[in-house]
Amino acid sequence: MNDSESVGRAASDVVRAEDAAATRAAGQRFAERLGPGDLVILSGELGAGKTTFTQGVAEGLGVRGPITSPTFVLARVHPSLTGGPALVHVDAYRLGSLPELDDLDLDASVEDSVTVVEWGEGKAEVLAEGRGGHYVVRFDRSREDDVREIVFERS
Ligand SMILES: Nc1ncnc2c1ncn2[C@@H]1O[C@H](COP(=O)(O)OP(=O)(O)O)[C@@H](O)[C@H]1O
Ligand SMILES: [Mg+2]
Repeated sequence: MNDSESVGRAASDVVRAEDAAATRAAGQRFAERLGPGDLVILSGELGAGKTTFTQGVAEGLGVRGPITSPTFVLARVHPSLTGGPALVHVDAYRLGSLPELDDLDLDASVEDSVTVVEWGEGKAEVLAEGRGGHYVVRFDRSREDDVREIVFERS
């Protein structure tokens, strides 16, 4: 491995998920590095696996489910069952812009929770502007029906 390769690998991780269970498992593993105040933006087209991944994150965090795709609800709070941070699950797919997360009338504060935002393809950068550290997780469908490529970036 040469230097530029190792730098590239440090900048982002890629996971290949063969099916929905693998995407859930990737979310569950990813949850191990999450703590209070963390923001995670999930980027990808409809059906790419963002909600499936969030179900895994919820399992990993030990919060109350179920995690569903909200049609009319912008955000849901899932309290911890284990004394850890709550999960705030935001689905902004249909929105052109996101109100300040703090302006949402949530039953939890963003500072004390892990916030996961499902966002449409290519919109994640807009949301992330002007914020501190956050994760971006991108979901790409491959030519094989059920395979997803999941790219993790820390910004
Ligand atoms: N590798 C995979 N990862 C995630 N979902 C998959 C995968 N293969 C098939 N699927 C299916 O694709 C759909 C993904 O839906 P969902 O997670 O709600 O996507 P999104 O939230 O991005 O719109 C589910 O029906 C799931 O069962
Ligand atoms: Mg979804």
